[in-house]
Formats: sequence, structure tokens, C-alpha cells
Amino acid sequence: MRSIGVFDSGVGGLTVAREIIRQLPNESIVYFGDTARVPYGIKSRETVIRFSVENILFLLKHDVKLICVACNTASSLALPSIKNNFRVPIIGVITSGAREAVYASQNKRIGVIGTKGTIKSRTYETEIKQLDRKVKVTAVACPLFVPFVEEGWTSGEVVLSVARSYLKPLKDAGVDTVILGCTHYPLLKPVIQEVLGKHVILIDSAKQVAFEIKKILTGEEMLNRGRGGKHRFYVSDNPEWFSSLARRFMGRKLTNVRKVDNV
Ligand code: DGL
Repeated sequence: MRSIGVFDSGVGGLTVAREIIRQLPNESIVYFGDTARVPYGIKSRETVIRFSVENILFLLKHDVKLICVACNTASSLALPSIKNNFRVPIIGVITSGAREAVYASQNKRIGVIGTKGTIKSRTYETEIKQLDRKVKVTAVACPLFVPFVEEGWTSGEVVLSVARSYLKPLKDAGVDTVILGCTHYPLLKPVIQEVLGKHVILIDSAKQVAFEIKKILTGEEMLNRGRGGKHRFYVSDNPEWFSSLARRFMGRKLTNVRKVDNV
């Protein structure tokens, strides 16, 4: 049974893995979290490309049939230039998030939040404009959100006040739809919603990309016919840290996390 490969800079991609498992329970997954080199959000394009290629080569050793780049930063910085160099389909999180946002927005004002690398790359903006040139995109980096989530600070006055400050340009621009353009942000949904208001639609790229994968595998007749997929988790460092955070990101404890030395 061939698996779906998923990689992320670390633990955040588990939000995507969880959605894939929810929507495709019979598929097996090989997940790689590059915990030795996280975070990607502040690294240069060249470095993120190099890491991404290495991660893809690692997953290919496991004979995966499709690769999902769960990391928004790697999807923005690396995917456009590397995806055609491999035979397996490689799916990032940007296109499906952008498509859903364009579909959802009524007033054609869309906000994007992500790491510094994701925002600087303007990949979301490019994808959105390709779908609808009239959309006005307001994009802001929210670099403190990742450490907040990893430390478990997903509610309370401190995170609320930081969110108010980060999200002010989006409020000022009157966006009606916001893409949560980072693996960690779905865990901050209640805070982000409180700051932006109930009328603003939050697009969770994890849900969209899982749906996209299901569509591709169905179309290519590559769905697993057996029952109950197996899920394997590899990291480049610190499996204990990864396992301890997994409960929050995956909604369940992971006991089978293995450390690999040479990615
Ligand atoms: N996984 C990254 C992303 O979605 C966030 C963490 C990092 O900076 O590596 O952009």
C-alpha cells in the first residue's frame, strides 16, 4: 500500500495530517517534521528550497504516491520552482487556500497572514490575482503567533493584544475573508475571530488541501482500496518535544515518532 508523504518544518503540519486522516481514513501517511531546522519562516528562499528538496527525497525513499507540502513557508518559497522536478504529484497549501478565499469573499478584499517568508514571497497574492485580478489583498506577517502556539498560549490577554496589533491593517482594509496562511494558525482561530469579528470568514488551508488531495487521488484512481491507513511519523530532532506537542496539533498522542539522522 503506497502512502501519502507529508512534510513540514516541524510539528505544525500535523494540522494538515489530521485533516488528511479525517477525510481519507484508509490512506497511509508518512510524515516528516524537520524539527532540527525549524523554523523555516525566517530563512532565505535558497535555504528553504534546499531543505524542501531534501525532505522530498526522504519521503520518496518511502515510495510515496503523492507529497503534500504542509508548510506554508515551503509551499510559498520552494514549491513554485521545484514541483516540476519530481515525478510524483507535489501539492502545496497555497493554491487551494487562495481558491477557497476567492470563492468565499463577497467584497473582494482578502487578508493573508503567515510567516515573514510566506508574506515576503507574495505567493498567495500572486495566486489570488491569477484567479481574480480585482481582488485587493492585504498581507501581514505574524511572527509571534508560531511561538505562542508552541508554548500553548492560544488564549488570554497577551495573545489577544498581539493579535489586535498584527491584525489592525486587515481590519482597516475591511477584509471579509482571511487566509490562515501558516500551519499553526488554526489553533488561534478563536482569538483571530474575536479580533476580526464574526462576519469575517477564516480559511483554514489544512481542510482545503486535504480535500484537494482526495480529489487528485480519486481522479487518478490512486485511492487505497484497503481499510484503515497506517501513520508513521519521522523527525530530524527531538521526537519527545514533537510527541508532546502532537496532542494539541493532532488531537491525539503520538507514540511512534522516530528520529532520522540523515535527511
Ligand atoms: N510551518 C511553518 C509555516 O506554515 C511555520 C513554522 C516555521 O516557521 O517553520 O509557515
